[in-house]
Amino acid sequence: MAPYLGTEHARATFQPKSVPPPTDLNFDALELAASEALGSMAYSYFAGGAEDERLLTEASAAWQRHLLYPRVLRDVSLIDTSTTILGQELASPIIVAPTALHGLANAEGEVATARGATDAQTIFTLSSLSNRSLRDVAAARQQTPQWMQLYVLKDRGATAALVDEIREAGFSALMLTVDAPVSGLRSRELRQHVQLPDDLSLPNLEGAVGSRPSGVGFMAHVAQAFDPSLDARTLEWLVEISGLPVIVKGVVRGDDAVRCFDLGAAGVVVSNHGARQLDGSVPTAAALAGVVDAANGRGAIFVDGGIRSASDVVRAICLGADAVLLGRPILYALATGGSQGVTDLLEWFQRELLRTMALCGATSLSELDRTVVGA
Ligand SMILES: Cc1cc2nc3c(=O)[nH]c(=O)nc-3n(C[C@H](O)[C@H](O)[C@H](O)COP(=O)(O)O)c2cc1C
Repeated sequence: MAPYLGTEHARATFQPKSVPPPTDLNFDALELAASEALGSMAYSYFAGGAEDERLLTEASAAWQRHLLYPRVLRDVSLIDTSTTILGQELASPIIVAPTALHGLANAEGEVATARGATDAQTIFTLSSLSNRSLRDVAAARQQTPQWMQLYVLKDRGATAALVDEIREAGFSALMLTVDAPVSGLRSRELRQHVQLPDDLSLPNLEGAVGSRPSGVGFMAHVAQAFDPSLDARTLEWLVEISGLPVIVKGVVRGDDAVRCFDLGAAGVVVSNHGARQLDGSVPTAAALAGVVDAANGRGAIFVDGGIRSASDVVRAICLGADAVLLGRPILYALATGGSQGVTDLLEWFQRELLRTMALCGATSLSELDRTVVGA
């Protein structure tokens, strides 16, 4: 038992469970309610993708194409969804992805989301583009581990100082985003005149980004501070200075995953940034198996993008992911229900994972293999 989970309560959650009665949650209905709660500007920022948003549509459709081949005549009275990720025991393989600007959805911003994830005993990954400081968010952690996402800044001194602060605040892994060397063309944001409201700031990047980003296209302004020369040496440098496991986020090719592991990464996230960077990119549901095969067990493999149901989680695990990350579903739950909404959404995913595994004839994650997706 890892020290941060040393309570009776935590231990009890890792016991195999029987499948509870169903409760309905429809992603489209959640998104509609969130769009009403957020208003058009904030909703456009959260919902939008890059360019013509073809990948955005394709991201969830591509999961649906992996049809399930359930096993029958198995005793599924008790199901175990627990797993160990980077040495940390978790009740389920469902983690919160780093997303920016939670202050658009809730007055408490990322502190509310972190509390919601902690209450669901799930890892919260804090974006470095958060509206609350990393220290405020770390204070909401209690016993559940948290990770923090990092962009490498042109100012390497500021990057190193941020990494020190992340480690000192007790985050247990660093997630380095590599698919945004420059900003994607966020057409919807430009069309809808998305701006950073006056009462929100980016406290983790104060100083590094220069003047407070404002006006339409403020994300492109922020991205000016990111270092497009980010390369293999940068990853090696981060692994060396951070003293934390480094997870590289934004990989869709097997050869890139192998390079990341050669350079000391502890894991990779198969991700295309929620379809916000390169519209022509391969959907992660199609890229995952190739990355898993090339990586050949050398480190943890995560995946995100378009995961909207427990069936999608099962598909990802069958294809070889160790865990999945949720982006927009968390933002919409935060916008509609605050911290409790985030907990409810995560617990709904956890409960429905029990049911979907039972219906697939699997009592543990290790029984979710490629045969269950017909491969
Ligand atoms: C509004 C929004 C903001 C995001 N901000 C970040 C960020 O700051 N850093 C990062 O690495 N990824 C960011 N992402 C990408 C997410 O981490 C994740 O890859 C993506 O949302 C997963 O897809 P999904 O939204 O379909 O679940 C953002 C995504 C959204 C929707």
